Amino acid sequence: QASTVYEAESASLSQATVANNHTGYTGTGFVDYTNIVGSYVEFTVNAPAAGSARLDFRYAFDAPDNRPMDVTVNGTTAVSNLGFPTTGSWTTWQVATTTVNLKAGSNKVRATATTANGGPNLDNVTVTPNNVDTTPPT
Ligand code: GCU
Repeated sequence: QASTVYEAESASLSQATVANNHTGYTGTGFVDYTNIVGSYVEFTVNAPAAGSARLDFRYAFDAPDNRPMDVTVNGTTAVSNLGFPTTGSWTTWQVATTTVNLKAGSNKVRATATTANGGPNLDNVTVTPNNVDTTPPT
């Protein structure tokens, strides 16, 4: 099934703000998490049917600290401390991938910072139902 891109700047934010001061984002900007535990971005994700879905979080993050985040689906922790390793600069965007289960219809997918550093700069999440691999063959 097709993938859908959800822009972080259109999501529900807590202790996070929309920014555009680093290039390379999609849409109209990205989300800058406040450097605090618990800051989050919550996407409202539609799934055509219940089942697994791949989440590709597009982000940028310049070390030296660490920026893991918990991923919850409809209030339940799906993935603890998903890694967001450094991308090398705030203008270099990469993808952190995980797989979760979604219910049919509307789902709340939240990415919450688990350290005092807050989250990375988050551009979007691409949701691919049923874990279809859309990566082109090499
Ligand atoms: C820098 C950078 C921001 C980033 C912040 C952070 O200030 O310009 O885009 O969000 O660091 O550490 O979170």
